[in-house]
Amino acid sequence: MSIDHKERISVAAASPNMGSYEEAHASFDWSEVEKQFTWHETGKVNMAFEAIDRHLAEGRGQKTALLYSDPKRDESYTFEQLSLLSNRFSNVLRKLGLAKGERLFIFMPRSPELYVALLGSLKLGVVVGPLFEAFMETAVKDRLLDSTATAIVTTPALLPRIKRDELPDLKHVIVVSDEGVPEGTISYKDEMAAASEEAQIEWLDREDGLLIHYTSGSTGKPKGVFHVQNAMLQHYHTGRIVLDLKEDDVYWCTADPGWVTGTSYGIFAPWLNGATNVVRGGRFSPQDWYTTLQRYGVTVWYSAPTAFRMLMGAGDDSVAQYDLSSLRHVLSVGEPLNPEVVRWGLKVYGQRIHDTWWMTETGGQLICNYPSMEIKPGSMGRPIPGVEAAIIDDAGNELPPYRMGNLAVRTPWPSMMRKIWNNPAKYEEYFRIPGWYISGDSAYRDEDGYFWFQGRIDDVINTAGERVGPFEVESKLVEHPAVAEAGVIGKPDPMRGEIIKAFISLREGFEPSDELKADIARFVKEGLSAHASPREIEFKDKLPKTRSGKIMRRVLKAWELDLPTGDLSTIED
Ligand code: WT7
Repeated sequence: MSIDHKERISVAAASPNMGSYEEAHASFDWSEVEKQFTWHETGKVNMAFEAIDRHLAEGRGQKTALLYSDPKRDESYTFEQLSLLSNRFSNVLRKLGLAKGERLFIFMPRSPELYVALLGSLKLGVVVGPLFEAFMETAVKDRLLDSTATAIVTTPALLPRIKRDELPDLKHVIVVSDEGVPEGTISYKDEMAAASEEAQIEWLDREDGLLIHYTSGSTGKPKGVFHVQNAMLQHYHTGRIVLDLKEDDVYWCTADPGWVTGTSYGIFAPWLNGATNVVRGGRFSPQDWYTTLQRYGVTVWYSAPTAFRMLMGAGDDSVAQYDLSSLRHVLSVGEPLNPEVVRWGLKVYGQRIHDTWWMTETGGQLICNYPSMEIKPGSMGRPIPGVEAAIIDDAGNELPPYRMGNLAVRTPWPSMMRKIWNNPAKYEEYFRIPGWYISGDSAYRDEDGYFWFQGRIDDVINTAGERVGPFEVESKLVEHPAVAEAGVIGKPDPMRGEIIKAFISLREGFEPSDELKADIARFVKEGLSAHASPREIEFKDKLPKTRSGKIMRRVLKAWELDLPTGDLSTIED
């Protein structure tokens, strides 16, 4: 990354929702944001109502809410249609006896039914656990067990990955299919047809549950990050000032709802702001994405560095074949946005790509670039109005400009996670310095208050914008009959940010070979998930370990990158 702290990309001539950043920051008051919602008066809230049904009363019932397409389907839904369909689904769940606070997982590829099921569940106050379609049986089982989920919505293709005999709490398996569904499961299609279009919304408290998003840490099982209704304040506010959504926008967030970007910004922020939301199913290809942008006349586009790098790799000519003139605002999240990508975006799209920083745990955007603010390529931007961020040392002292330290956020903010499911100790770790949330990222700040990302402090791997915990991969690897021990690291990669590299020592009787590497990679792909499978494997006679037996990923990384290994006082021999 070539960073030039003096480089600036000036503000585009437009009239953004937020004018001067400084003024907005100085005068900000969350209670003004609250006034947007009906619960400002009633005290009772429901995310699905605020995102969908509210628009019916405000004259947007016939407005297009969802433009869905994939290689086989091409559909559009108004706010009214989504309202009625989600009413039906909430009645389906009510009939099954589901109640407020119970956990239901949605495990399926993007489709209109996914969005209907999610909204319908929320109408009943059910807490939704979105699960990315690439997860395989172990990953699915771990997440359902941890959250004692009682219901799941899935498709026939994914059904075999749900091991019902190992999931004692799972009572209802709802299958979305045009055909009949297997014995012992519930047909989404039949139940929806039989359900009433009128529904009783469950009115909730602001601190009642919304979602559990599972994410990775460096050790142990995946963490169930629990979010509450109150997050809508942040989703609405950032949808307005960061996504800059306006009445006539056609907005496309390319993330899957299995990840937090796909819910906070693929569902809530656009619909709370009444925008038309594009969802494109199927696989990524530059041609497909440009066709999608052109066809719908997308105006606001939220994607990720990996995708932008792949689009860049496809060449400028591929852009020139499309009319992308509708685009007026482009944003990025998930990993560092390289300055050269920002420069390239300006050249080929005529657009500034606005980097945004946040995490599953934060529930919404926290440090961002805004239409009304100069961009410094390579910087994540400045904290949103209403939020204070800082670089602090391990004792909680704020550090001066250009000193690297913990990227921390002053607590609380509306969309902050409220717990890690089943794991209060893990939750507390984020708040170990009083008054601050410790992100686990390291960064520095410059004299203008812009933040610059440096890296993760822990061993979490960010591959193509997806977070992978090394421990989960290592645990799967050692289940392979040939693997004695495994250590997993993120290896820098020009396209994916990082790739997963596994160092493996073999059991007696196994010899290193390319076939064995392929077999081990396939084993992880089929047992855990495709994105967690190592792209590189290296066999070692022995792995570096501490005297207490912990594999030293830090040393593996130093080997890989030809760096000094640092303090080895705890190494085994
Ligand atoms: C981690 C969070 C919620 C967005 C999707 C990722 C990294 C996120 C940026 C950015 C550099 C970034 C951080 C963070 N990250 N945005 N703009 N620049 N790094 O959510 O899976 O919870 O991952 O992604 O390391 O801690 P996530």
